[in-house]
Amino acid sequence: MHRRLIVPSALAASLLLAIPASAADYVPGAAGIGDAYYPASGNGGYDVSHYDLRLTYQPKTDLLEGTATIVATTTQKLSRFNLDLGLKVSEVRVNGRKAAFATSGDHELEVTPAAPLDKGKEISVVVRYAGKPSELKIGGWSAWHRTPDGGVAAQEPDSAVWWFPSNDHPLDKATYDVSISVPDGTQAISNGVLQSQSSKLGWTRYNWRSNKPQASYLATLAIGKFDITTDKTAKGLPVLNAYSRDLGDNAGAARASIERTTEVAEWLEEVFGPYPFNALGGYVPNVTSGYALETQTRPFYSPRQFAGGSNVSVVVHELAHQWYGDSVSVKGWKDIWVNEGFARYSQWLWSEKEGEGTAQELADYVYALHPADDPFWTVKPGDPGPDNQFDIAVYDRGALALQALRNAVGDQHFFAILQGWPQKFAHGNASVGDFVKYAEQVSGKPLAGLFDTWLYQPSKPAASAAAGKRS
Ligand code: ARG
Ligand code: ZN
Repeated sequence: MHRRLIVPSALAASLLLAIPASAADYVPGAAGIGDAYYPASGNGGYDVSHYDLRLTYQPKTDLLEGTATIVATTTQKLSRFNLDLGLKVSEVRVNGRKAAFATSGDHELEVTPAAPLDKGKEISVVVRYAGKPSELKIGGWSAWHRTPDGGVAAQEPDSAVWWFPSNDHPLDKATYDVSISVPDGTQAISNGVLQSQSSKLGWTRYNWRSNKPQASYLATLAIGKFDITTDKTAKGLPVLNAYSRDLGDNAGAARASIERTTEVAEWLEEVFGPYPFNALGGYVPNVTSGYALETQTRPFYSPRQFAGGSNVSVVVHELAHQWYGDSVSVKGWKDIWVNEGFARYSQWLWSEKEGEGTAQELADYVYALHPADDPFWTVKPGDPGPDNQFDIAVYDRGALALQALRNAVGDQHFFAILQGWPQKFAHGNASVGDFVKYAEQVSGKPLAGLFDTWLYQPSKPAASAAAGKRS
């Protein structure tokens, strides 16, 4: 409430200058970052630069306990701000001082610091928390996979709220140190490089570092009994793969596929340019779900992907995402095509290289596979809506759009675009519109019509649009 003072105006002006900013200048940060599909995702008012997570996990009970230290910079004057977390919080400190906190909505943690925060200030936020991630369900589903010997956090578009407090949206990337203590004899896997490992009192602590900007959904944690292989690439990057000891029949095919990670990444460097991160690898926990995820530097694979035999194609897909999705990330979740269209097209390029069918042949096949009345064509890869974000059409029709682009601009421009994009937006964010603009710039051709046909029309494009102009 404002009290009115009656003072001569010159005096009022000088008073205004002398008076510190009133409490009313400080406002709560938004509870969402502004995503069109997921209004509650992320938060406003600050930008995280680093997460330091110090965790303990007991496989027997699924109890995860942790202290998160978040280094961030405020982007406005804040009376309070939100983090996203689904586990139970016991204490929050901001800049060392105890802060008040409350939970609201789905998985919002509201933090009110002892003193309001000015704009452009680096702050530290310490959150102590604990819980059983497997008990947390949001909208009936879970990003936490409890396994017979541990647990795994890996899901898109959300997984962070199951295991650490964050600004949970790809727009706010940060570096990560994940330190995780588990009973001796159990392994714990995360992103990046294993900096150190030590054991005491029956517990082993693994310290992982991911030192390039990383979106919160690309952070992963896996606890279990794993066989681990390590190596170095020709350029000296550490490679670390981890296989659950419980993959049964799928163990051989999983290894035969994922042990080719370095080879696939070298080939992708020829197509996309330098690999963007500090480590390479993959891991296969003994989960029952069927998807893979491009968790940064170390994709998550499900054993089911190897049930049919070796599957290097899925390795190509998840590694292609390291450029398309992880280094260059979506601005909003409606931009999902800039991830999935390209990861699928990379699988077609791999097939082309391996002599197992060219991208054009695969495009012709997919085009013919879906008749005009197939609901496949009603999904718009350029704006599929949250319910169809991972529909097969985003992948396959999304790759058809790239084949159409290749035919329209020719191989020289097409591959210049594929390689230029991950450089131009490295470690940043970009939208479908940004890609259209970029492809027009590089090729010197107007392409809005082509992309409208392939990404935004809810119907099957005419055969003439699909026919390759192989010139
Ligand atoms: N980006 C992942 C992939 O294409 C998709 C994960 C989708 N998750 C799901 N539950 N369908 O590899
Ligand atoms: Zn994908």
